[in-house]
Amino acid sequence: MDRLFIVANLKSNQNLSEANLWLEEFLKYKDKLQNIGNKEIIICPSFTTLFRFNSEFLGTNIKLGVQNLSPFDQGAYTGEVNAKQIKDFADYVIVGHSERRNNFGETDLMLAGKTKMALKYGITPIFCVQNDDSPIPEGIEIVAYEPIFAIGTGNPDTPEDAKNVAANIMTKDKKYAILYGGSVTAENVSSFTKTENIKGVLVGGASLDPNEFIKIILNA
Ligand code: PGA
Repeated sequence: MDRLFIVANLKSNQNLSEANLWLEEFLKYKDKLQNIGNKEIIICPSFTTLFRFNSEFLGTNIKLGVQNLSPFDQGAYTGEVNAKQIKDFADYVIVGHSERRNNFGETDLMLAGKTKMALKYGITPIFCVQNDDSPIPEGIEIVAYEPIFAIGTGNPDTPEDAKNVAANIMTKDKKYAILYGGSVTAENVSSFTKTENIKGVLVGGASLDPNEFIKIILNA
């Protein structure tokens, strides 16, 4: 059976004490999380709390991801966190999120470089596109369709539209696992995960509430 990906993008939130509170709440459901079948849960916290999440989930079925990585290998790139460093803590990385494209000027060329670095060190990129004609770098297996109008607005795309966009993206490579992201909640998650062509969800705002994120996992 294909995996169903449920990704929490915590964005630029949580200091250490807030991360501890999130974990404390989330881990109340530890037993339930052991029986989630084909669901692959991926939590993407900030770099500053990543070690804390890692110490909690190392060796469990909960996977970790990061929200960014350097397009360069290790070396003289002040301020960057590179794929080799990330690999100690995480198996996934979000690449091409619209917030990075728009606020930090990330270009298709930079995203190709980031993808290459992730793959070099065995980190799986979750590559975000905002429509079905964005270029997708070679080696990508997971693509997240995230229309701008749906991000953080409470105004999700329709499952029907997500299905059609996913079908268009899959004309480039039918092996892509396509996720949907944009205002996913515990209430609407199953309308996406039950849709043809959609293999999971990327959750922003709703994942900041651990109880809501648990509901998303269970309802997906
Ligand atoms: P949202 O964000 O769930 O808050 O809309 C999704 C995302 O940006 O990945």
